[in-house]
Amino acid sequence: MKKLIAGNWKMNGSLAANEALLGALAQGLAANKPSCDIAVCVPAPYLAQVQALKSVQPALSTVGVGAQDVSAQASGAYTGEVSAGMLKDFACRYAIVGHSERRQYHFETDALVAEKARAALAAGITPIVCVGETLAEREAGHTEEVVKRQLAAVIHANGHCISEIVVAYEPVWAIGTGKTASPEEAQAVHAVLRAQLKAATDQSARVKILYGGSMNAANAATLLAQPDIDGGLIGGASLNAPDFLKIIAAAQ
Ligand code: G3P
Repeated sequence: MKKLIAGNWKMNGSLAANEALLGALAQGLAANKPSCDIAVCVPAPYLAQVQALKSVQPALSTVGVGAQDVSAQASGAYTGEVSAGMLKDFACRYAIVGHSERRQYHFETDALVAEKARAALAAGITPIVCVGETLAEREAGHTEEVVKRQLAAVIHANGHCISEIVVAYEPVWAIGTGKTASPEEAQAVHAVLRAQLKAATDQSARVKILYGGSMNAANAATLLAQPDIDGGLIGGASLNAPDFLKIIAAAQ
């Protein structure tokens, strides 16, 4: 299957910085046509800017645009929330749901994440469902149980649509720490997730399982060479065009 390299800009960027970053990305993509899928998940206020830049830079035409979160609600009195319908208005193709930063700082539960995935799917947006264990959970030997529980909630709420999601395994202890899961550690968890998807749908082969957590230009190739690692969800390194382009090149 085609790999997917998705950048998660998190709460970074400005009009000027985004233009420079996407300009450099366009140059690199024009010089070296990628054969993998590419996406950038940007802060909601910049969705319009990114779409506008895409329309004037042909090399960005294949770059999918994503949001970093989506409301489980369709509309109404939910101050600060952004609905899937609104994201669709800005041609969003992806929405990250259940990122560990949202689980940790915004107390998002497995059930809420599952509802967010459902709202995205209903609007025709691919949810990138993040799962992952904390360091304490890993050290206690609970990694498998945690990621299975997180994914099970999404499977339960989404039934036959489950083959339309993307899963991202992001060990919390590897996010922004420079500590990456070894290719073998990551592959072992991806295999568990693959088996769980297989049990849930006969279309499981279509579901991409990304790795996220300090993936960078130096370690991308070995991680992406693992049989069940179908791409990456990249934080810090996606803010640097040369690094992001190297990761894209490693996914060919
Ligand atoms: O969603 C991407 C992510 O959490 C990984 O971040 O900065 O470790 O690549 P980073």
